[in-house]
Amino acid sequence: MAFRTILTYEDPQLRKNSRPVTKFDSRLHQLLDDMRETLASANGVGLAAPQVGVLRQAVIVLETNVAEDEEEYVIELINPEIVSTEGEQSGAEGCLSVPEEFGIVNRPEKVRVRAQDRYGNTFEVEGEGLTARCFCHEIDHLSGVLFTDLAEKMLTEEELNSGEY
Ligand code: NI
Repeated sequence: MAFRTILTYEDPQLRKNSRPVTKFDSRLHQLLDDMRETLASANGVGLAAPQVGVLRQAVIVLETNVAEDEEEYVIELINPEIVSTEGEQSGAEGCLSVPEEFGIVNRPEKVRVRAQDRYGNTFEVEGEGLTARCFCHEIDHLSGVLFTDLAEKMLTEEELNSGEY
């Protein structure tokens, strides 16, 4: 595995549409392994392939809604699409490609995603709370959308630290 550089907001690659993954081969597996390592080193909760300069429809999301005695785990979503949503949440959101900036973004409270795994098998997964937010945020990256496009308000450091927003 290897750490890959995370592109930041001024990079035009982040604004492009990613293409579907068609080959579920060792190159894809290497990409996903590298993305896992990159996400872990950056202490993030999600990462999309275009953020490391690969314009393919692949994202990873850290599932943090686990029982106390269970480990958080990474969900790999290839060619993901949102199939249903439920409810609404409003909260602070950030992005590894937009360092040190946070804004208020409205997202669904629950999101169901259909995707393929690294071997090409189709599956569905549901996320709630932060995981639902993360599914939406990472899938947005695949069409060149950043959270700053959707934020109803960007937060100052003071607002973020005080939790008053
Ligand atoms: Ni992001």
